[in-house]
Amino acid sequence: MTIWNPNLEGYPGPRYKALADAIADDIKTGVLKPKQKLPTHRSLAELLGVTVGTVTRGYAEAEKRELIVARMGSGTFVGGKSNGMSDYLKSLRDHGNQIDMSLSITLSHGQEQVLADILNEIGTSADSIQGLIGYQYEAGSIRHRSVFVDWLRRIGIKADQDNLVICNGGQNAINTILSALTRSGDRVVSDMLTYPGFTYLARHHRLRHFGVEMDQFGLITEDLEDICQKHQPRILYCMPNLQNPSSTTLPEQRRREVMEIAKRYDMYVIEDQVQGVFQQNPPLSLYELDQERVFFSCSFSKIFAGGLRIGLIVTPSRFLKPVESALYLDSLFAPPLMAEVACNAIESGRLDKLIKEKKAEIGARQQLVDTLFDGLDYINQPECPHTWLNLPDPWQADEFVLELQKKGVLVKAVNSFAVNPTNNTQGIRICLTSPHTREQVEKGLTLIRDTIDQHPGVWQSIM
Ligand SMILES: Cc1ncc(COP(=O)(O)O)c(C=O)c1O
Repeated sequence: MTIWNPNLEGYPGPRYKALADAIADDIKTGVLKPKQKLPTHRSLAELLGVTVGTVTRGYAEAEKRELIVARMGSGTFVGGKSNGMSDYLKSLRDHGNQIDMSLSITLSHGQEQVLADILNEIGTSADSIQGLIGYQYEAGSIRHRSVFVDWLRRIGIKADQDNLVICNGGQNAINTILSALTRSGDRVVSDMLTYPGFTYLARHHRLRHFGVEMDQFGLITEDLEDICQKHQPRILYCMPNLQNPSSTTLPEQRRREVMEIAKRYDMYVIEDQVQGVFQQNPPLSLYELDQERVFFSCSFSKIFAGGLRIGLIVTPSRFLKPVESALYLDSLFAPPLMAEVACNAIESGRLDKLIKEKKAEIGARQQLVDTLFDGLDYINQPECPHTWLNLPDPWQADEFVLELQKKGVLVKAVNSFAVNPTNNTQGIRICLTSPHTREQVEKGLTLIRDTIDQHPGVWQSIM
């Protein structure tokens, strides 16, 4: 067996990065084969005339990029970790050669390493783990609630420890609130195009679900009032910041109108900010406008990792007990170990850093939208993980999605989000965060643009 002996001369930058780059190139060209064992740190250092520390850093960098894997006691091998979750996420992101822009998932941007570091820190002793693995009776420990309250205050939500409930992610937050507040047959209202997870929950709870007309700023308050008059809904579910799927942000004046209507018709409001946490200086939250009527919910899924399953509910004080009970009946409580991970990310400043970096990358991807979609009818914002594109006549959203699929680009059509099946807008949601690289985003957007400029033709049998 020949020993791998890369030539680092052609690679610029620090030697450890050059080593990781050489590994990447040699895997690409087949010089390094899957599962091949790499030289030990010491022998490669001698071959390359660098320090052992440089090789260690280079291997660590390559491992971070999931090119190689180190196995304690047996050595370092080509090929990423066969770690169920990351393989699963990869398969979600890259269906073979397809560019998947259909999934609202967080950017892959170093959170794996952040998580690995945090888990190392948390797991330093059995004592430190002990308090994180037992049953608990409150909706979050005092320590965790206090860290989350401080963080929420930093993003403009004046929560208190005694009206905060830690739950199992944003979906669980909505389910918990619906369980606490509604009974079968109640009516609920949301934007006409909404997060499908809410629509499914409304069906599951046997609620009658109405959709409010929208424009480029979000829900139209006159239509909301009309629905309230006719149907007296118990709850309005909405996403005032970076709405999913339309990318709209409700202006402050409309937020005030929404809360006046809610008061007039004695309706409660779920303000879902799972997508909106990225937004810089958003208008006043609905929760701040009426803390007696608004349930605020958010999670760490879009800013950190979807698998963390930690969400937060800020509830009007008088609903604390019903909300806690609904969570308790469903899942007892959210895992304290995961809450500790989120708190550590907040306290160590790592979450802020991740958010800052992800925001910058999302901004760069949205700039591509502005360049490539020039002249089209679309809604985007610099911090929004997705873009909404209204299709020009005569394109129908379904046929457009099929046509794109043939070209290897996946997006979601309006029907996935429409409350009312007879809706007649023709649009698609394009997620900019699911592809791994900016290049893939550019390629996907270019194919979308090219497809728009093409005539749809006849797309199915007319017999
Ligand atoms: C608006 C909205 N709310 C809630 C969720 C669910 O979030 P989580 O993964 O934290 O359960 C999503 C996920 O896409 C979402 O888009």
